[in-house]
Amino acid sequence: MKIMICGKGGSGKSTITTLLARALNTSGKTVLVVDTDESNLCLNRLLGAQLPEVLMENMGGRKGAKEKLHPSFPHKPEDAFFKDPLTLADLPPVCLADADGIRLLVVGKIKEFGEGCACMIGSISKAVLSRLREGADEVVLIDAEAGLEHFGRRVDAGCDLILTVVDPSFESILMADRTRQLAEAAGVQAFFILNKVDDAVREAMEERLDPEKVIACIPRDETLFLQSLRGEALTMEIKEIKAVCQFITGYKKPISLQVRL
Ligand SMILES: Nc1ncnc2c1ncn2[C@@H]1O[C@H](COP(=O)(O)OP(=O)(O)OP(=O)(O)O)[C@@H](O)[C@H]1O
Ligand SMILES: [Mg+2]
Repeated sequence: MKIMICGKGGSGKSTITTLLARALNTSGKTVLVVDTDESNLCLNRLLGAQLPEVLMENMGGRKGAKEKLHPSFPHKPEDAFFKDPLTLADLPPVCLADADGIRLLVVGKIKEFGEGCACMIGSISKAVLSRLREGADEVVLIDAEAGLEHFGRRVDAGCDLILTVVDPSFESILMADRTRQLAEAAGVQAFFILNKVDDAVREAMEERLDPEKVIACIPRDETLFLQSLRGEALTMEIKEIKAVCQFITGYKKPISLQVRL
């Protein structure tokens, strides 16, 4: 199962991805975390993993990746580089870091002044996710970049489920509703995880969001915040995250959406 974790900047996508990865790993799933965010630098720290070799660098950098993905562009826009189907075992081992059994794949990062836009990183993400065929006990968690660009690039079409992290701001609520509409167009269901909320805030947020789409409300946690601030691994268990795991484990994509894809 491939699950995209998306939402507004700073809403808690990387935090929730990390906590979910740990909880799913503990429950016996094989977890691959895919970092598709071209900018943020701390996901490996949150997971407690070393930084693996970045996939785009492994493909020969921006130029090499372009040649490998689009050898006859624009005549054959589909990539020719990744196997179809692609399994977790086909991914270059040097590009997989390990954190207590959780594996981390980093697609690409902006590192040079003037190197160009993040389109190539988006193309690689789309290619990997559309071809990856995970086994029944394997879960792929994708930590998306902030905002909606991944929808524009059709990266989400390769996913089974979208979880939008919604923090208490009007902008985040509007973005959640937009992700639901865009997900529908991609043939994927989107559900909401409210983050950094207490009961009063939850009530206010649910006035604007479909409560049936809200699968968890994660409270603001000071220990988590401080660990994250220090660049430490997040190892705590949060009961609301366990509920998200159960939701994921029991999730069946509606047949109407299966045929659309
Ligand atoms: N439940 C929580 N309790 C306390 N702090 C939290 C919680 N969730 C996230 N945070 C804090 O909020 C900040 C943003 O979290 P995080 O980096 O996970 O967001 P993000 O959506 O991945 O951000 P970006 O858009 O920059 O990738 C961090 O300081 C993190 O520690
Ligand atoms: Mg992040």
